Amino acid sequence: MSPAEKITALTKIPNHVAVIMDGNGRWAKSRGLPRMLGHRAGTENLRKIIRACVEFGIHYLTIYAFSTENWGRPTEEVQGLMLILEDVIDKELNELHEEGVQLRHIGRLENLKPALREKVLHAIELTRNNNRLVLCVAFNYGGRDEIVCAIRRIIEDGIRPEAINDEVVASYLFTAGVPDPDLIIRTSGEMRVSNFLIWQGAYSEWYVTPTYWPDFDKDELFKALQSYDQRERRFGRLSTSDCAGDAEPHAG
Ligand code: IPE
Ligand code: IPE
Ligand code: MG
Repeated sequence: MSPAEKITALTKIPNHVAVIMDGNGRWAKSRGLPRMLGHRAGTENLRKIIRACVEFGIHYLTIYAFSTENWGRPTEEVQGLMLILEDVIDKELNELHEEGVQLRHIGRLENLKPALREKVLHAIELTRNNNRLVLCVAFNYGGRDEIVCAIRRIIEDGIRPEAINDEVVASYLFTAGVPDPDLIIRTSGEMRVSNFLIWQGAYSEWYVTPTYWPDFDKDELFKALQSYDQRERRFGRLSTSDCAGDAEPHAG
C-alpha cells in the first residue's frame, strides 16, 4: 500500500499519539552492542517516526525520552542521554523548524545543565508558531511529579477549593493546552505505565507491541493506527449499538 492508500484505509486518525519509546537497551543487547548504541539507534528511528506522523496527519506527538526515575541509571548512561538530547537539538532543530514542527517540553528543566536548558528553551521559542505537528518531548518527566508541581502552583495562586475542577487541574499541568492523548503506544512489550501521562491518559487507547523502539518503523506505526481504528471509545457510556437495541421493542 502507498502512504496515501494507507491513510485512506483508516476511518479515524488519532489527533494525539504518545509513545513510550522503550527497548533501546534490549535492542543493543540482542546485537551484542553497548546500551548507548541502542539509544543512538532509537534517536535515528525517532526522526523517521516524526516524519511518518506528519504524513499520517497526526497533529500531536508526545515522546517519553527520559523519566524522573531514569536518574537512577548509571551516571554514564544518564550523561549519554543528556548528550543525545543536546545533539538532537543541534543537528535536527533547523530541519524540524522548516518542516513546521512545534517543539514543546514537558517535565522539569531545572535539573538539567544550564547549557542544555538554554538549548531547549531556544528550540521552543524558535518553533512556537509552527503548526504542522506539535512534538512534546517528555524529558525529566514524571506524571506524579507533574501533579505535585500543579498542586503547588494551584496553592500558590490561591485558587479556592470550590473552584478546582478537571479543567483547572489540566491547566496547571505541563501539558496545558495540549489535548489528551488518544493513543498511547509502548514498544518492547512491558505492560505498565511507568509514570507517563497518568492524568492525561485516563481514557487513552493503549497499544503495546513487542517490537523494540529502534525497530518500530512506519509500518509498525500503521499497525498501531489500524488497531486504534478498530477501537470503540465508550468513555464509560454504552456502545451505540447497545443504546439502539434498548430503544427497540422486546421481541415476543
Ligand atoms: C528506553 O529504552 C529509553 C529510555 C528509558 C531512556 P531503555 O533504555 O529503557 O531500554 P530497555 O528497556 O533497557 O531495553
Ligand atoms: C520508560 O521506560 C521511560 C522512557 C521510555 C523514557 P523505562 O525503561 O524507564 O521504564 P521501566 O523501568 O521499564 O518501567
Ligand atoms: Mg526500558
